[in-house]
Amino acid sequence: MTLAVSAANLVGGSANYVFTDADFAVIARRAHKDFGLHLTEAKKDLVYSRLAKRLRQLGLTDFTSYCQMIEAPEGAEERMQMLSALTTNVTHFFREEHHFRILREQVLPPLLKAARSGGRVRLWSAGCSAGQEPYSLAFTLLDLCPEAAQLDVRILATDVDPAILVRAQTGVYDNDELKALPESARSHYVTPAGDGRFAIGAKARAVISFGALNLMEDWPVRGPFDAIFCRNVAIYFDKPTQARLWSRFADLLPVGGTLCIGHSERVAGPALNCLEPAGVTTYRKSTARFAESPTRPTEGTPL
Ligand SMILES: C[S@@+](CC[C@H](N)C(=O)[O-])C[C@H]1O[C@@H](n2cnc3c(N)ncnc32)[C@H](O)[C@@H]1O
Repeated sequence: MTLAVSAANLVGGSANYVFTDADFAVIARRAHKDFGLHLTEAKKDLVYSRLAKRLRQLGLTDFTSYCQMIEAPEGAEERMQMLSALTTNVTHFFREEHHFRILREQVLPPLLKAARSGGRVRLWSAGCSAGQEPYSLAFTLLDLCPEAAQLDVRILATDVDPAILVRAQTGVYDNDELKALPESARSHYVTPAGDGRFAIGAKARAVISFGALNLMEDWPVRGPFDAIFCRNVAIYFDKPTQARLWSRFADLLPVGGTLCIGHSERVAGPALNCLEPAGVTTYRKSTARFAESPTRPTEGTPL
């Protein structure tokens, strides 16, 4: 069945595009292969409305041309635009606050004690969007350990979308985006950017490394990570893809390491052999999984 509408009909800037089942199948297959996105038939209308904007911007008159574009070897940039159009970057400071409470009260104190004696601490914000999540991790860390940047304590912040990663690295937010930030964090870690907006200060930036990483591909990280935050990302993936992701995270956690996921996500599959519930959408690695848990590298090794 052809989903949407008559032949290309450009009137006053609005356009209807032919969108066939075959077009939808090409987009769904590509989105799944490259990014793990699970686009069921029920999402056809959403796919149409999100991508029609791209067709308009690109001056294309039909979805078949768009499909050719994303399937072409040189279509990598448009494939990324497609991902951005099909997913959201919604995030805010201290989103799902209970995770930061667990971090502050349970996870970080023993780790920071070890760090003060030369130990290594690594946190990972996987799917960090515009940066509010890793900066919230940094503020939590620095509240407990103002000297963290001088120790072997680091946060890795990654996202598949290079454009949103630039925003994260820039670390400049408008007043509305800072609303979720407690006053103490605002006064300690944020400075006026001079244009009515606000910039994350050097102290918090110093403990974060940003990098592009597609969770569907090989990960250029070694771990182990003492805590992994991957929240509101796996929601886009199908169950088998999610299960693989949880196992890959589990392999990068030491025994005792913590995994925090989004409010509508649940760990399932083989990873449950070693990840035990430890709070709301929080899991703790209780035992090495199939093989040895990752060994701790020597101090000062990269993320
Ligand atoms: C809704 S935001 C979540 C941001 C933050 N984790 C939070 O909970 O507030 C989802 C993010 O996941 C990223 N994403 C989607 N698919 C991804 C993939 N295959 N690999 C890495 N990141 C992905 C998107 O680019 C987006 O920035």
